[in-house]
Amino acid sequence: MFQRTRRTRRTAPIRAGVAETHLLPQHLIQPVFMADGKNVKVEIASLPGQFRMSYDHIVPFIEKGLGLGLCQYILFPVIPEEKKDTYASYSYDEENFYLQQVRKLKAHFGDKISLISDVAMDPYSSDGHDGIVKDGIILNDPSLAILAKMSVAQARAGFDVIGPSDMMDGRVLAIREALDEEGFTDKAIMSYTAKYASAFYGPFRDALDSAPKSGDKKTYQMDPANRREALHEAMLDEEEGADYLMVKPALHYMDIISDLKADSSLPIVCYHVSGECAMLLAAAEKGWLDFDTAMPETLLGLKRAGADLIISYFAMDYASRYNSSSGFRE
Ligand code: PBG
Repeated sequence: MFQRTRRTRRTAPIRAGVAETHLLPQHLIQPVFMADGKNVKVEIASLPGQFRMSYDHIVPFIEKGLGLGLCQYILFPVIPEEKKDTYASYSYDEENFYLQQVRKLKAHFGDKISLISDVAMDPYSSDGHDGIVKDGIILNDPSLAILAKMSVAQARAGFDVIGPSDMMDGRVLAIREALDEEGFTDKAIMSYTAKYASAFYGPFRDALDSAPKSGDKKTYQMDPANRREALHEAMLDEEEGADYLMVKPALHYMDIISDLKADSSLPIVCYHVSGECAMLLAAAEKGWLDFDTAMPETLLGLKRAGADLIISYFAMDYASRYNSSSGFRE
């Protein structure tokens, strides 16, 4: 036996030297559920450890993250039912607390943080869909105008990166044109390129009360059976002007992450979604899995599959373990 692969596994320093994948806090993006008002901090029952928070709680949360090297945050607004309507008009209302709080966050933190928005109608829609609903059909082209308006309002509020999660056809182009027209040529678009009609969004919809009031999202989100179609979506997003391509969910779609990485030279992002995080939390709570080792293994796996950036509810947890003396860096 001339070849013995165990030689490079013998000690921690040897293993560290040959490790192929490195996951640093700067590769992670932490989602934040933003609530209106003051002193709001309510835990999401189906996603323990994650909270709906008001501005006064979000500032120290981000300060803690910054201290750990976590500087990218993706923000989702919790919209009260009475503000929702058919056309999601609150999404671009000047009075919108999401936009106002982002203005304050950017004034406070400046370019020490990058804030990513969510462009979709569902949090603001009385129908709970990502586009306008008419007679049970989700209308594509009329929704684009609203998504474009929403994006411009977000860019104006100070978001660094605009994140369309709606899956309407042509939205990246519509948003790019609207941003450019308003002079926001330097705002990037992180497109949810391959977003699947997945069962793993449950806890997120609980967090925002954004579940569809009727029907499902299968006429706009992708079929979990499809792989080549993701490459088609990626091609369109590139042509339309996307700056980042995202795969969502992440864990159950690692083949898609790997395909997009091989096929595109844009940064690849994956969204380790709420249900995927909840599975691990539930198993850990039962004592069936060890969170401290399973969580970093999960995130490392996504990086290894080809994700340059990972959106995960475990970002803060990972960053604090990464920085602690008992961390998992060998
Ligand atoms: C909707 C949106 C969803 C998520 C992010 N943006 C859910 C959906 O499509 O219903 C899910 C994220 C998660 O589950 O963590 N625009």
